[in-house]
Amino acid sequence: MSKILAINGGKPVLKKSLPFFPPSPMDNKEKKAVLRIMQSNRLSDFVAGNGEKFLGGKEIIDLEKTFTKKFKVKYSVSFNSATTALHGAIVALGIGPGDEVIVPAYSMSATASCVLMNGAVPIFADIREDNYCIDPKSILKNITPRTKAIIVVNLFGGSANFNEILKIAEKHKLKIIEDNAQAPGAKYRGKFTGTIGDIGIFSFNTHKVIQSGEGGVLVTNNKKYSFRAQLARNHGECVVDQMDEKNKEIILGSNYRLTNIQAVIAKEQILKLDSLNRQRIILADYLTSKLKDIPGIETPVLKNKNKHVYYIYPFKIKEEILGINRDKFVDAMQFEGFVLSKGYVKPIYLLPIYQKKKAFNNTSFPFKSMFYKGSPNYKKGICPVCERMYEKEFTFTTICQNPFTKKEVDLFVKAVKKIVNNKEELK
Ligand SMILES: Cc1ncc(COP(=O)(O)O)c(C=O)c1O
Repeated sequence: MSKILAINGGKPVLKKSLPFFPPSPMDNKEKKAVLRIMQSNRLSDFVAGNGEKFLGGKEIIDLEKTFTKKFKVKYSVSFNSATTALHGAIVALGIGPGDEVIVPAYSMSATASCVLMNGAVPIFADIREDNYCIDPKSILKNITPRTKAIIVVNLFGGSANFNEILKIAEKHKLKIIEDNAQAPGAKYRGKFTGTIGDIGIFSFNTHKVIQSGEGGVLVTNNKKYSFRAQLARNHGECVVDQMDEKNKEIILGSNYRLTNIQAVIAKEQILKLDSLNRQRIILADYLTSKLKDIPGIETPVLKNKNKHVYYIYPFKIKEEILGINRDKFVDAMQFEGFVLSKGYVKPIYLLPIYQKKKAFNNTSFPFKSMFYKGSPNYKKGICPVCERMYEKEFTFTTICQNPFTKKEVDLFVKAVKKIVNNKEELK
């Protein structure tokens, strides 16, 4: 008997696979803005010296003002990526050798490497199964006298459990950095994620909700953190030397500066954020309504009327109920024309840098040093929920992203149902 599923030679739902992570669209507004910068020849106005150009000039300040207004914060400092903004946040908070920072194990590697970059040690906490974000109970288990901060990631466009996290931070006098690279516009109990902790960071990387190719922003309501972040961004070590005594901070800075072309694109993209988010939310709700009654497929759970912005559409495959193994399901979907992820990313502590505890050439710094009294545990098994998501259950699609419409979502659902209804072919 001829087989139905495309993985077995049957006719696929789509002849040609749809793109995975289609980039956020550019239109005439971005083109016009870029042309204006090109015609001015001023591709960057930054100067690493005391004076107004230290802050990057008009285009950079314009972008930062737009961000400040949109997210209702006091200070925004642009960076050339969210990765460098994360490092700026660690520098701003004065975290360094001897310190530990608790980070979720399920995130992009930069969430943890920013800690290493400043000579401190990341300690990995497990995630919650319902929202994939850091588990407050696991934070508590990992606090030591050396803990200085928690990095909370609002993963996939949803928000973490801030009520509990803020209480823990207050009780143990810990700072909170929000890695909001994936969740611009998301809300936790009515408040923008990224603006709940002491410092928040956003990304304009090409795969993100809004993009300028590369780019990032750090936001805070604390003037000192904002100033230290500006020094981290623009060669602080030489700039402070030219400043008056009361402003002097000892900072090892770098060149984390955004160009004017990136700044004007990012500004136009922020102005489109609400409409891009709205489109994704409509499609994601539609997809949930179509998938939620399939036993063994677990769609996103939303609590407290929090606003999820679906950077990607996350879901779980429960093999024991669905009767299909996650990896087989993903492979079968790929043959039908829809790319899915097998587990997002490896739990960060399983990366070689942590397994071998070698970050700076062959030395053991900062995992073992004269400054550090701890002994971090990066053994397999420390974050069981995260490992299970990665190995067995978690997957995501980018089918709710612009330029896709209900038409593509319907075809996606058709492929899912085709596989579920013919699962015996996958045995
Ligand atoms: C959660 C998270 N944090 C940080 C980053 C780093 O962002 P960027 O590429 O702007 O450096 C990413 C990018 O994938 C991310 O997903």
